[in-house]
Formats: sequence, C-alpha cells, structure tokens
Amino acid sequence: MAVLKTINLKKYYGTGENQVKALDDVNLEIERGEFVAIVGSSGSGKSTLLHMLGGLDYPTEGKVLVDNKDIFRLKEDELCIFRRRKIGFVFQSYNLVPVLNVYENIVLPVELDGNKVDKEYTKEVIHILGLDAKLEHLPSQLSGGQQQRVAIARALITKPSILLADEPTGNLDSRTSQDVLGLLKVTSEQFGQTMVMITHNEEIAQMADRIVRIEDGKLAEDGETYE
Ligand SMILES: Nc1ncnc2c1ncn2[C@@H]1O[C@H](COP(=O)(O)OP(=O)(O)O)[C@@H](O)[C@H]1O
Ligand SMILES: [Mg+2]
Repeated sequence: MAVLKTINLKKYYGTGENQVKALDDVNLEIERGEFVAIVGSSGSGKSTLLHMLGGLDYPTEGKVLVDNKDIFRLKEDELCIFRRRKIGFVFQSYNLVPVLNVYENIVLPVELDGNKVDKEYTKEVIHILGLDAKLEHLPSQLSGGQQQRVAIARALITKPSILLADEPTGNLDSRTSQDVLGLLKVTSEQFGQTMVMITHNEEIAQMADRIVRIEDGKLAEDGETYE
C-alpha cells in the first residue's frame, strides 16, 4: 500500500493573467520505505509539492492521502499534530530558532510533543552529523552547512515515518553531502522511513530508489534508478 498518494493535486497561485499553476494535476504514489528523489528546474513546482505532501499548505484542488487518510480533511490542530508526529521536514532555509542553542533546537520537536528525549539515539544522530562540539552554540554562530546539519538532526529526532527534504545537501560540500545521505539512508532503513527529497545533485538523485521529474507543475517522468 502506498504511504503517500496524491490524487489530481493542483495548486494555483494568483488569478487571471497572473495565475501560476505550480502543481497541475499531479498523481503520485510512494511506497513505504521508498527513497524518492524529486528533480526539475527552478520554479517547476518541487517545493510546492513537498509542502502539500507534508500538509503545510492547502491545495487548490485534489487530495493528499497519507496512510490512505485524506490529510486536508483533518482539523487544523489535528493536522498540526499529524505533522509533528509523522513527518520530518528539512527546509532549504533551516528554520532554526535563533535564541535556542544547537542541542535545544534538535530536541525541540520531541519536547513540543511532551515526550522524553531518547538520549542514546540523539547522541548518535548528533555524532554522525558531526555536531558534538557545537551543541552549546547558537545558530548565528554556525556556518550554513552546520545549520543545515542541525536542521537534519532536528528532522530525524522524532523518528518520523516520512522524511521530506528540500535540497538538504544544498549547502554542504560533496564529502559531507555523501555522509549526510549515508546517514539518511541508514536511518530510513532502520526505522522503515519513507524519504522524499528534492535535489539538484545528480549523484544524490542516483542514490534514490526512484527519480520523479517535475516540469511546469506536471510529472514528466517517473523511473527507477539503476546502479
Ligand atoms: N506563495 C507563492 N505565491 C505565488 N507564487 C508562488 C508561491 N510559491 C511558489 N510560487 C510559484 O509557483 C511556481 C513553483 O514554485 P516552487 O514550487 O517553489 O518551485 P521549485 O521549488 O521547483 O523551484 C513558481 O512559478 C513560483 O514562482
Ligand atoms: Mg524550491
């Protein structure tokens, strides 16, 4: 059964001559445990699709089913809880809380949910992401790549069943990119996570189980990757 499914998904911005069809009738199914890379030129609708998949913004038309459940029929507070428990997001713009240090940022989603932090697991994630020495630092004291790693750690900390990532390695050097991807692959296998990742990086796309190409808001090509 598909863990994620979109049905005739549309997202239009603006009206009349200024209307942009950011998503134009997208039908996509993603199986549990799958690692899907989304590729496409700038402005093709990749981020919009990711936002819809995670219930961050409402579509103009169509549905997003997660575990066969129509997420946009949830009440706003239910949708918020659903996101926090089920989905890990890594955004292009990190969205770290400036007044919290690295450690506090990482464990924030667990604490917001009133849960206990799994110390061992947290330590492991922090270590693999190379953040051990930075835990007391504020985001403003970190480089872009370091902030990105904090955002990735924060997304992994709740062991979400679905990880949605928008160019998660965009600011990392190629060595760190490979390490982070390796970590994401290991954790996704360990926790049976489904991973949907937007990337411009051809090498990273090739690490996915499947590449989905989007052009002008439409799915253009959907194929297995071959090693
Ligand atoms: N909030 C918004 N308001 C108006 N237009 C938007 C908004 N977000 C995205 N768009 C437009 O929708 C299209 C798809 O954007 P986006 O999904 O960000 O593309 P990508 O991530 O592939 O670069 C673009 O033409 C973009 O300008
Ligand atoms: Mg984008």
